[in-house]
Amino acid sequence: DLDQNYMLRLPKSGPLEGTLWSHRGLCIFKMSPYKMNNYFKCSHVCLYSCHAVQESLLSSASGFSNYRGILNWCVVMLVLSNARLFLENIIKYGILVDPIQVVSLFLKDPYSWPAACLIIVSNVFILAALYTERRLAVGTISETTGLILHIFNLSCILVIPAATALTVTSMTSVGGVISLGIYTVLFLKLYSYKDANRWCREIRQAKAKRLTRSYSSVQTHVSYPGNLTHRDMYYFVFAPTLCYQLNFPRSSRIRKRFLMRRLLEMLFLMQLLVGLIQQWMVPTIQNSMKPFQEMDFSRMVERLLKLAVPNHLIWLIFFYWFFHSSLNFMAELLQFGDREFYRDWWNSETVTYFWANWNIPVHKWCLRHFYKPMLRKGTNKFLAQSAVFLVSAFFHEYLVSIPLRMFRLWAFMGMMAQVPLALFVSRFLNGNYGNAAVWISLIIGQPVAVLMYVHDYYVLHYGSSA
Ligand SMILES: CC(C)(COP(=O)(O)OP(=O)(O)OC[C@H]1O[C@@H](n2cnc3c(N)ncnc32)[C@H](O)[C@@H]1OP(=O)(O)O)[C@@H](O)C(=O)NCCC(=O)NCCS
Repeated sequence: DLDQNYMLRLPKSGPLEGTLWSHRGLCIFKMSPYKMNNYFKCSHVCLYSCHAVQESLLSSASGFSNYRGILNWCVVMLVLSNARLFLENIIKYGILVDPIQVVSLFLKDPYSWPAACLIIVSNVFILAALYTERRLAVGTISETTGLILHIFNLSCILVIPAATALTVTSMTSVGGVISLGIYTVLFLKLYSYKDANRWCREIRQAKAKRLTRSYSSVQTHVSYPGNLTHRDMYYFVFAPTLCYQLNFPRSSRIRKRFLMRRLLEMLFLMQLLVGLIQQWMVPTIQNSMKPFQEMDFSRMVERLLKLAVPNHLIWLIFFYWFFHSSLNFMAELLQFGDREFYRDWWNSETVTYFWANWNIPVHKWCLRHFYKPMLRKGTNKFLAQSAVFLVSAFFHEYLVSIPLRMFRLWAFMGMMAQVPLALFVSRFLNGNYGNAAVWISLIIGQPVAVLMYVHDYYVLHYGSSA
């Protein structure tokens, strides 16, 4: 045995000390008083040989895989290098964090709150969808009329906030992003509501044809059309999901400690995000304008890489803030049981794995209401995937261009570029190389788009980017 300590079965009358031969040579062994099921704990000292055939730990043939210490080293290096950057930033710019400035991002005129009004008006569209479904359930309108009403309602959800953001001058860009974001979520939710209720009617008709009567097997569960209530509709509107179903899985109780932890995380990370943007992102972006105007390529790349660090850090914090803290907070409050808001996207070895795992609510919606229906109609898989990315690209552009009142298509192209990138990575890279490619596309791709928009915004509003 190669181990210093091992269990040895010996006859009760056996020696307590002795010698034995192993492949390491002659060993002296000593038996300890510790005994379990007739096995004695022994230790041995090898006299002649101290070598064995073995691989170095860092060669893959060794099968060694515990790199916990290296991971800690990475974290320590990251903290140290960022501490240096933090000090450099403070020495260069002083404290730039300004909470009053944050308020001005939301309000231009204290007597005009267009974004808040827009959010309140969204109730009209929610109720319109509910009443259309009620009419469809009792058969007072035909399926075609119902579909037309839904299409009209969904079109209004996209057009009215966009028109408001473009025409009301007191609407700030941040107010525009928030209200358009809420309307986009509402669009996806009400689209799902329409589909899910139509599927229920189809099932009801199929059952009626088979002359069977349906009752919910569990009485606490709602069955169609009992779900068409204000309470059910508003539960869905606030629930952290985009896909409607009649009976959501529910957690048994609200865990108060869990809720408080998520709330504190939300408040703290929100402050951290605002602070990092003001102190780190904004000055870096401002310093990047000159090289971009002069088309100084090497300085542009240097600025881009400089911006990549705070941008990526802010994106990671945003991911945790939104997908873990905020969605879990809402879910806990509403006792919404399905907490799968993200999967292990950080291990993505392909671009498609990343997109299918980092934002589960959107991915589930895409699969259920767009991708799978297309596949079922016989659309080719590549075409269906490209169509999903096309719709996603439209919404990304919608959420950026309209609040900024500037149509540049950078977000659209960034999203559409994912299709050839996905093909390239899956064809030529795999394993750790694929994972590195996904990280690089995230770390570099986002600041490119950010710089493009900021540069164009400065040029458009201030005439020169300097
Ligand atoms: C396009 C997209 C939906 C593809 O997802 P994917 O998981 O790679 O797709 P797959 O082809 O592996 O199949 C997914 C599902 O379709 C099913 N499927 C595949 N071929 C099918 C067919 N011919 N008929 C029916 N179902 C089929 C699979 O069984 C699988 O089902 P499951 O989820 O129940 O296991 C995904 O990349 C996506 O969501 N992209 C957009 C994401 C996005 O824009 N997010 C925005 C975040 S800000």
